[in-house]
Amino acid sequence: MPEPLDFKPWMQAICQRTEIALERTLPESSTVPTILHEAMRYAVIGGGKRIRPLLCHAAGELVGAAPQMLDIPAVALELIHTYSLVHDDLPAMDNDDWRRGQPTVHRRYGEATAVLVGDALQAQAFIVLTDQSPVGDAISSSRELSDAAHGILDAHRQARWVRELAWASGSLGMAGGQALDLSNVGLTLPRAQLETMHRLKTGALIEAAVRMGAHAGPTPIEQELETALGVYARAIGLAFQVVDDLLDATATASTLGKTPGKDALQAKPTYVSMLGLEASHALAQELRIEAHLALERLGHRADRLAQLADWVVERVS
Ligand code: IPE
Ligand code: IPE
Ligand code: MG
Ligand code: MG
Ligand code: MG
Repeated sequence: MPEPLDFKPWMQAICQRTEIALERTLPESSTVPTILHEAMRYAVIGGGKRIRPLLCHAAGELVGAAPQMLDIPAVALELIHTYSLVHDDLPAMDNDDWRRGQPTVHRRYGEATAVLVGDALQAQAFIVLTDQSPVGDAISSSRELSDAAHGILDAHRQARWVRELAWASGSLGMAGGQALDLSNVGLTLPRAQLETMHRLKTGALIEAAVRMGAHAGPTPIEQELETALGVYARAIGLAFQVVDDLLDATATASTLGKTPGKDALQAKPTYVSMLGLEASHALAQELRIEAHLALERLGHRADRLAQLADWVVERVS
């Protein structure tokens, strides 16, 4: 079972294999239409914390899934997430100039291309999930080969992943949350509505990351484990956006790689605007504890997920 000290190298290893898999998944920039493919790669490659792939791998490790199998949903999740960022930054939405330490896609390639980058990344995610070949590094052992081949050809598993990701991205998930975000500008929301908005725009995809990893194992998972992971994922899904709100109000552009202070400037209702900094910090800590409690009965096999809950809440970017 993983030691706490292993966390950083583990994260680096997952980020590295995710990078390779993303690199292999996206068409080359030289493929026509070249500008679209160049812009897709610009948006995706070499940036971001890759928290959704990390959660997917951590949940998958817990159920004994092969890393090669987990690369598939991990890449699909990151493609959907990156598409959501490209569209979130558009002038019609948050109108941001910086993302992941570089000019936003529409700043670099124009708005029409940025719209198409989002569209194409979304489609690419479902291509990956339903493809017949591995996306990650070379499969190294025959056991992994048979696991991966079994999974890749398992239509039931693919359909489950597609359904999870589609629900989490659509009008009752991320896109719906983004719609609420836009229609709530300038309003003071009741707490329950703010929570719903955050759970949809950010929590849904984070919950899907945990579920998709948990459903990548060699056998179906037990109800008790499914329930525990669901409670965990809901807690960190909300915590992630609470911390995003906090960082918008407190961090610098150089650590964030995006423009801070935008939420107040654009009159977005956030946990910071509703509760203030101190109570928002306290809420993030409460959610962290809730996530840990959900994992308690799972023992050491859930250590990685526990470490990720800490990281989600304590991150500085
Ligand atoms: C930012 O997500 C937008 C939200 C959903 C809160 P991340 O903080 O995961 O962004 P990257 O992927 O690290 O750039
Ligand atoms: C974005 O929330 C959520 C998404 C679905 C992309 P924010 O608008 O707060 O994300 P940032 O702060 O621009 O990354
Ligand atoms: Mg936004
Ligand atoms: Mg934004
Ligand atoms: Mg934000």
